[in-house]
Amino acid sequence: MKDKIKVGYVGLGRRGRGVLKKCISQMADVEVAYLCDLSQERMETGKQYLLDQGRSEPILTKDYHNILRDPTVDAVFLMTGWDGRPQMAKEAMLAGKYTGIEVGCAIRLEECFDLIDTYEKTKVPLMMLENCCYGRREMMALNMRELGLFGEIVHCDGAYGHYINDEDTFKNIGEENPPHYRFPHYLNRNCEHYPTHALGPISKVLNLNRGNRMLKLASFATKSVGLKAYATERFGPDSEYAKLPYKHADIINTVITCEGGETILLTLDTTLPRAYYSRNFTVRGTKGLYTEERKVGYLKGMAEPVENNEKEFFEQYDHPLHREYEELGTRGGHGGMDWLVCRAFVESVKAGTNTPIDAYDTVLWMCIAPLSEQSIQNGNMPVDVPDFTNGKWKSREPITEGKYCLDKVCVDKDTKIFHDIE
Ligand SMILES: NC(=O)c1ccc[n+]([C@@H]2O[C@H](COP(=O)([O-])OP(=O)(O)OC[C@H]3O[C@@H](n4cnc5c(N)ncnc54)[C@H](O)[C@@H]3O)[C@@H](O)[C@H]2O)c1
Repeated sequence: MKDKIKVGYVGLGRRGRGVLKKCISQMADVEVAYLCDLSQERMETGKQYLLDQGRSEPILTKDYHNILRDPTVDAVFLMTGWDGRPQMAKEAMLAGKYTGIEVGCAIRLEECFDLIDTYEKTKVPLMMLENCCYGRREMMALNMRELGLFGEIVHCDGAYGHYINDEDTFKNIGEENPPHYRFPHYLNRNCEHYPTHALGPISKVLNLNRGNRMLKLASFATKSVGLKAYATERFGPDSEYAKLPYKHADIINTVITCEGGETILLTLDTTLPRAYYSRNFTVRGTKGLYTEERKVGYLKGMAEPVENNEKEFFEQYDHPLHREYEELGTRGGHGGMDWLVCRAFVESVKAGTNTPIDAYDTVLWMCIAPLSEQSIQNGNMPVDVPDFTNGKWKSREPITEGKYCLDKVCVDKDTKIFHDIE
């Protein structure tokens, strides 16, 4: 068990800077030895965050290979956009560094196979830093599953319902900056490219890769009019952006079937005005349900109708990790889950164990985009979901138990959530 780890941190865009400032820079057991970005200015901003916390000055580099070549670095955080990141992750694993990658999709299915081959060859842990797996309601659902409160689970819903035309897709467009990394995906692709905030927690609730697996997937896409309508209104009907042939549908629904007989419905909904953000995290079973959209938990026998009772459910069924976290006071972004996912990764690196979201989970969640693209291109035909475990899902190596375990509810009071700088 290491007391302290040394990391390289790649990608200081909006997400990378946020996580560095609110989480990593405040962890006394993590030394950020390198910051890497293509932009000198962003690296300088990141350096300042570290200095503001009294941390040592990192080496700044525009080439991530410099981090991979340093044998003293234990782990890398890859916080760049989606393109080119699987290659970066592969190289990091080959260099023997624990590899944490931000959420996002694969562009090609081959990238997923390549990452799994690399994992099988090196056994270097690869973890998607899917913060929503550590959300309070998502972890409560895990706890409820363990307590048998859902009965037999039959179906899960999830969504990325987030209108991001202003915030991401068209942000800064037309100025000096190149378009946002998501923009080409909206222009050139038509697929479920952002499933993981919902699918990650659902995967864990359904034991995917450990006793259960995905079988098939089919995706259904609406017409694409929201992006053009937005661009016409913002830039004018004769503008370049109003005339582009956007391929991305406004709403894409994807149905996934599982070996255990469950279905998963994922909805990608990011280009039409909507009043609120939602991941629509929903679990349905023979004895009860939890649904984020209505903030309702329901167990058979409860008096109906049930309205907005999430708070009472937290009081009764909070995951032990969140019970402790709420008492201490949550930190970092997104209601505290950013902090937890970073700690989950860091604790695995310190302990030298596999990560709670492992390489098989990571590639399974990444492969949804190319598979759904294939399904839509083929008139919504179901597509087989590859078994990246190659049969091992039936009988996997034992899980690593601990505070951040997502395969089982573990009570672990010894591992501290906060490691404050003295
Ligand atoms: N988990 C969450 O809640 C959450 C929220 C937002 C974004 N994200 C994810 O975070 C990632 C980054 O998103 P963002 O909005 O910060 O994007 P961004 O475009 O703002 O930042 C990406 C950064 O990576 C840098 N970069 C790109 N290629 C590089 C390379 N080869 N070497 C070094 N630096 C390189 C860019 O210069 C840029 O600064 C995406 O995968 C996104 O899906 C996650």
